[in-house]
Amino acid sequence: MARPRLLVTRKLPDAVEARIRRDFDAVLNEDDRAHGPEDLVRLAQGMDGVLTCGTERWTPAVIEALPDRLRIVASFSVGYEHLDLAAFAKRGIIVTNTPDVLTEATADVAMLCLLGAARRAWESQMLLRERRWDRPKMAELLGLDLRGRVLGIVGMGRIGQATARRARGFGMTIHYHNRRKLPDEKAQGAVYHETLDSLLPSCHFLSLNSPGGAETHHLMNARTLALLPPGAVLVNTARGTLVDDAALIAALRSGHLFAAGLDVFAGEPAIHAAYYDLPNCFLLPHIGSATVETRDGMGFRALDNLDAHFAGLRAPDALT
Ligand code: DGY
Repeated sequence: MARPRLLVTRKLPDAVEARIRRDFDAVLNEDDRAHGPEDLVRLAQGMDGVLTCGTERWTPAVIEALPDRLRIVASFSVGYEHLDLAAFAKRGIIVTNTPDVLTEATADVAMLCLLGAARRAWESQMLLRERRWDRPKMAELLGLDLRGRVLGIVGMGRIGQATARRARGFGMTIHYHNRRKLPDEKAQGAVYHETLDSLLPSCHFLSLNSPGGAETHHLMNARTLALLPPGAVLVNTARGTLVDDAALIAALRSGHLFAAGLDVFAGEPAIHAAYYDLPNCFLLPHIGSATVETRDGMGFRALDNLDAHFAGLRAPDALT
């Protein structure tokens, strides 16, 4: 039987591409070229499925122009705000994501951002790398202890809960805001706040773990940032769109916030230029899921969905 024709929009880890070559008649992206809307429509012609990433925008116009034979789009991501689910559903095209497999790696990076911001890792690195470290100084590069402090988590899904587990190991107390209160076995003693406004004044540290999209756009803005106590630390490993950059930059400049640790940015990779020069900002280039095991796991999970679909079964992570 002919193997399904699959368009793969980005360069993926070797083990994932090996399985794709074995099981599909695939068009890979060896050079990892960026695909805009017109490329997506052109390349999708003659395909039965697509394996896409969070870097491609699947707008209603693109989806409308997809060929009838294309029945599934599997995304190599847990987030799916780059995929217009309503437009896909209208065309009867299955969309899948990769939940679970990146939870632990992303929570690790939330702690990396939290520690990097609290312990002034960027300034410390620069002192060394610019060969300015003349002698240890007792009153310089002083950061914040995590122990005994409150970590507020906005979005207590899988990654939020995994971040809470880690933070408890550092002696932090967890407060959270979520659409729903978690059952006790999941909350593990974390204090629930029905509103974001009620959560923020209690937080020495705040970790954003909500999905992107219209509902969470600029959740942290001048008004909500002002509700954090002076000297708080903000961590974002979720989506850049959750934060109003201009307001965060102003809060970091004024000293209202002690620091921020950011792995995600609005408009990435073209991030707000002011971040580059802020010493109290610990910055990472969206590496939350970037471990060998996790990226392989994401690829295999996307392929499991494609395999199920082409075997005539319901894809396990179907969103449409
Ligand atoms: C996701 O899967 O949505 C992540 O942001 C990609 O690393």
